[in-house]
Amino acid sequence: LLTISEREIRRHGPGNLFAVCWRHWRVERALARRGIRFRTTDLNTLAAAYAAMSDQEFDAINGLQNWANWRTIPRALSGHVPDRPLRVLDLGSGTGSSTKVLAFYCPAGSRITGIELALPLAQIARRQPYLHRSGLTADVNFSCQGVTERWCEAAGEPVADRSVDLVNASGVVGHHLKVQIVAPVIRELQRVLAPGGVAMLDVGPTLSAAELSEQMSTAGFQGLGRWRSWLLDPTGQLVFRAH
Ligand SMILES: C[S@@+](CC[C@H](N)C(=O)[O-])C[C@H]1O[C@@H](n2cnc3c(N)ncnc32)[C@H](O)[C@@H]1O
Repeated sequence: LLTISEREIRRHGPGNLFAVCWRHWRVERALARRGIRFRTTDLNTLAAAYAAMSDQEFDAINGLQNWANWRTIPRALSGHVPDRPLRVLDLGSGTGSSTKVLAFYCPAGSRITGIELALPLAQIARRQPYLHRSGLTADVNFSCQGVTERWCEAAGEPVADRSVDLVNASGVVGHHLKVQIVAPVIRELQRVLAPGGVAMLDVGPTLSAAELSEQMSTAGFQGLGRWRSWLLDPTGQLVFRAH
């Protein structure tokens, strides 16, 4: 199994949480003055809001998410996936910040596809570098689509049934989906995950841990636990295994 030590996690995560929060607060206020509101579960409003931001504005409002990703994702990964090249999907990949963490920590030779609704963000993500912790470039591409649609490869064909080892979601399932609209995501997890495959899904203001756990266990997934960026993190990711 892939194991990642807490020492390594602390060494690679971005520091200075105060500066990250301050920048986020300033930019969110500036966006609100321009009528741009991204805290919504309405897909059209959301796509328009993200599309109206500059790269720097998205990075600022996503700074806390990025800070948390470098802690939560490796903790959720460690001990749950095999230490061999993996096929990985990153739901709601934005400009690629969660994808960067996956590229860094997943075993060398892994192939990662980010799935993102907002084309401008997917275009930014496509231009970013993705490095494995060995320093080698990771194999990463992006499909521009909704996560509640059938998941597709970057070239457009559907992701093959039972072909995926790991599905990650950071800042999307518990931040933009509600219990009424998460069902298609769970159906796609059932379709694409190989037996024993793992889903690491964020919980948060729009979908609680209790709600997600109930939906996932009804769909036949085994819950492995919850991992957080720090002790009092109200969000974090739940990890599930497919039978
Ligand atoms: C908070 S950002 C997180 C981005 C990235 N995962 C990260 O951790 O930095 C949420 C992202 O999910 C995307 N998103 C929200 N709803 C979506 C949907 N239904 N389908 C695909 N992407 C979606 C948004 O466009 C945005 O890029």
